[in-house]
Amino acid sequence: MFLSYTKTMIITILFFLFCVGLCNGANHKTPLQGRKGQWQLLLNNTGVVGMHTALTYKNTVIMFDQTGGGQSRYKLRKRFNGTSCRTNNNNDLTDSTCYAHSVEYDINANRIRPLRLETDPWCSSGSFLSNGTLLQTGGYHQGAKRVRFYRPCGNNQHCDWIQSKKSLSDERWYASSQILPEHDRVVLVGGRRVFTYEFVPKSSPNEKSFELPFLHQTNDRNSDGNNLYPFTHLSSDGNLFVFANRDSILLNLRHNRVIKTFPQIPGNGSRNYPSSGSSVLLPLDHKDRFQKAEVMVCGGSSTGALNAAKSKRFISGLRSCGRMVITGNKHTWEMEYMPKPRLLHDMLILPTGNILIINGAKHGCAGYDNARNSSLEPYLYTPKKKLGKRFTVLKKTMIARMYHSSATLLPDGRVLVAGSNPHGRYTFQNVAYPTELRLQAFVPHYMEKRYHTWRPSNLTIEKHAVGYGKEFNVTFLLDRRPSDEVRFSVYSPPFTTHAFAMNQRMLNLRCRRMVRSKEGRVEAVVEAPPSSVVAPSGYYLLTVVNGGIPSMSQWIQFAHA
Ligand SMILES: *[C@@H]1O[C@H](CO)[C@@H](O)[C@H](O)[C@H]1NC(C)=O
Ligand SMILES: *[C@@H]1O[C@H](CO)[C@@H](O)[C@H](O)[C@H]1NC(C)=O
Ligand SMILES: *[C@@H]1O[C@H](CO)[C@@H](O)[C@H](O)[C@H]1NC(C)=O
Ligand SMILES: *[C@@H]1O[C@H](CO)[C@@H](O)[C@H](O)[C@H]1NC(C)=O
Ligand SMILES: *[C@@H]1O[C@H](CO)[C@@H](O)[C@H](O)[C@H]1NC(C)=O
Ligand SMILES: *[C@@H]1O[C@H](CO)[C@@H](O)[C@H](O)[C@H]1NC(C)=O
Ligand SMILES: *[C@@H]1O[C@H](CO)[C@@H](O)[C@H](O)[C@H]1NC(C)=O
Repeated sequence: MFLSYTKTMIITILFFLFCVGLCNGANHKTPLQGRKGQWQLLLNNTGVVGMHTALTYKNTVIMFDQTGGGQSRYKLRKRFNGTSCRTNNNNDLTDSTCYAHSVEYDINANRIRPLRLETDPWCSSGSFLSNGTLLQTGGYHQGAKRVRFYRPCGNNQHCDWIQSKKSLSDERWYASSQILPEHDRVVLVGGRRVFTYEFVPKSSPNEKSFELPFLHQTNDRNSDGNNLYPFTHLSSDGNLFVFANRDSILLNLRHNRVIKTFPQIPGNGSRNYPSSGSSVLLPLDHKDRFQKAEVMVCGGSSTGALNAAKSKRFISGLRSCGRMVITGNKHTWEMEYMPKPRLLHDMLILPTGNILIINGAKHGCAGYDNARNSSLEPYLYTPKKKLGKRFTVLKKTMIARMYHSSATLLPDGRVLVAGSNPHGRYTFQNVAYPTELRLQAFVPHYMEKRYHTWRPSNLTIEKHAVGYGKEFNVTFLLDRRPSDEVRFSVYSPPFTTHAFAMNQRMLNLRCRRMVRSKEGRVEAVVEAPPSSVVAPSGYYLLTVVNGGIPSMSQWIQFAHA
């Protein structure tokens, strides 16, 4: 009895030592210098343009285009209303209902299947709910006030879009969506000629949309708005950060009040559609209890780019990026410069906590045929490095990804790249940038074979739904012990379109204890985020990062108890 007690004590002390040694180690050396990554061609034809993409927790990627784009390259044998599409009938060949406009890509099978859309979700928005269902909102024309659900069901099942009978208060074309701390509540901000925000679902049947004068103030009427698809980020205090054009505010949604107006970002140009720069919320960290929230905005178009593009002059975009801490009470944009100007790009947070800047162009702006000089080289941005040393130019692709392209982080660490179509219809000839249906993956340098001995493998999470503030156990294998820093990150899969990944969020979680057996098996006790304010409930990708080398990610769900 006494012996076993002593043994337990010793083991407990050992656990503690390991935690300090492994979890909080300093000075980790990154073995990644100078590595540029690779490109893979996955499919030659996704059938539809990947204008909007989102990764589901069933490891599929939903993609959709506009339904008004005419004939896609995915011909259906039957319409969704059951009638046949005859290949020898000219009416059927030109009938857009004989073509798919949305597909689901199965990552493991590398295969697509068609999905059914009732109304046009063109330039819409989306957020994942706590149970992994995608809530997709708005679009064009008859689709502009629609709410659609996609409940992922995984392999070989026939789940599809479901259009809700309820509709939005206002038309949401080019609006942004953000999931909120309140259970399954989403806020939609802006849209074309719409200067309001609204909630889905409403808190009472009579609730309408709320005026947001900030959207009027930032609306650049001679340039198609320059404030569409506002960058929305949920701050760590539960307030909503909204960036439009060059300005930003902090919005208290409970009281419908602007509680902060931030300084204007420097740079001679705008950052939102059609200037189409991009933005991320940098990873939140357990070390300050997830309190410090810092936003980054990169690129965009120069003043006058839209009017110039109309007369076929494509002026150079913005090279500048700004970083600003939006919590606390000192707010200034810390400016730095990308290697080249960039617009129409996506910004994704990699499992390492670094930012990938991918897709886009150097000249012009968003909209049909308004941009030139594709940006073929992704950039890696390392937030923790010294100013001036943060950007690395990565491996070039041969495929231009212009307006209406997208990028999505996958659970294995690759980045899926789809779409590009600066035309109203599918156009493959006699244009500067044809419609692009090839599907690629960018394979970051950390996936190279040479790092396999650093890579944590066989990651398993003992519980898949974890309450806020609760501990959970994860196990994984480490071949050797080459690093003194093991980190645990969680990432919420965004809804990506028009250069903005809505709801993208990363948190570095606290590791309470960690033990290693001789065989290299590691058991760690990790603490879930404290609340839905810092991490709205839903599915996240958990990744173990050993000395800068990420494991394959596994899904974990954070839920209200
Ligand atoms: C795509 O098409 C090219 C040219 O026809 C072919 O060589 C290649 O194997 C195809 N790739 C895929 C992934 O289907
Ligand atoms: C099915 O859809 C086609 C194309 O919209 C339409 O012409 C046809 O009448 C529909 N048939 C039925 C049975 O609803
Ligand atoms: C998830 O929640 C949504 C909204 O409440 C609901 O429509 C959907 O059926 C749920 N999905 C699952 C898989 O339970
Ligand atoms: C801003 O850019 C526009 C278009 O390139 C140019 O006409 C204008 O002079 C610039 N303004 C400043 C202050 O640099
Ligand atoms: C942009 O592309 C054009 C050709 O379309 C080329 O003449 C020009 O040099 C390019 N400019 C830059 C800055 O890459
Ligand atoms: C780790 O995973 C691989 C591939 O899934 C499997 O073959 C192997 O047996 C696993 N190893 C252990 C120790 O669980
Ligand atoms: C988690 O791991 C700790 C030791 O690291 C152990 O004491 C505890 O029982 C584990 N919890 C579960 C639910 O397995």
